[in-house]
Amino acid sequence: MSHYESDELLGQYMAFHYGESYFGVGNYPSRCAGVCQELMAGRDKQSALDLGCAVGRSTLELGRVFERVVGLDLSNRFIEAANTLKTDGELAYFLRDEGELGATVTASLADSNLEKAAARVTFAVADACNLGSEYSGFNLIFAGNLIDRLRDPRAFLASVHRHLADDGVLVLSTPYTLMDEFTPRSQWLGGYLRNGVPFTVLDGLKEVLAPHFELLREPEDLPFVIRETKRKYQHTVAELTAWRRTA
Ligand SMILES: C[S@@+](CC[C@H](N)C(=O)[O-])C[C@H]1O[C@@H](n2cnc3c(N)ncnc32)[C@H](O)[C@@H]1O
Repeated sequence: MSHYESDELLGQYMAFHYGESYFGVGNYPSRCAGVCQELMAGRDKQSALDLGCAVGRSTLELGRVFERVVGLDLSNRFIEAANTLKTDGELAYFLRDEGELGATVTASLADSNLEKAAARVTFAVADACNLGSEYSGFNLIFAGNLIDRLRDPRAFLASVHRHLADDGVLVLSTPYTLMDEFTPRSQWLGGYLRNGVPFTVLDGLKEVLAPHFELLREPEDLPFVIRETKRKYQHTVAELTAWRRTA
């Protein structure tokens, strides 16, 4: 079973997207969508594609400003949850406190005023690395914490422009975790010495995206907190970069 099909991860991601904030760090999918909205000021906002959307919060947030938003994820479980939320307006999940103890809590679109946005959004199971031609012409593509989960992020980045409109914007947010379990060392974009000089993932992104994109503005830090249990949290700092399609 894939990492993202389990009860455990479903509970963690439901809480991450729709639950409380911790340690003063605000809702990550919603802040990412807010930056996308800022970047798209004065640009066409007909359609957006959210790749690796998990249980859908950033997709729904983008639905506040885009006429049509498609959220895609490889996890059947996550997409089923996102679709239930969209159609029923709420979904119950288990918030683990310790061991088998915890509580069933309910995420609700109404709590975040997302009911209208939900009507503009569709969710589907799909592989971001093998997208059909039906996924093309988007004004924005957002990929939150996705590229660290791909076997071959270079191949993904080298072809993602095909799914954007001319002049469309690609937004990547990622903590560059470079875990062998997801991305073999041979496929890392950076995070090593190249010819004796540090070569970062950002350097790698610039290199692989250069044929089709220009950097729109300086990268920015976006912290997030994922609650694992009542006493264990992952506090991570992602870097968000925005790229305009040039070719
Ligand atoms: C680290 S999670 C990030 C989820 C969400 N964007 C967020 O920031 O909370 C990575 C997500 O990417 C999905 N994923 C991994 N590989 C994928 C692929 N090739 N195509 C689409 N989704 C993928 C996983 O199922 C998971 O939901």
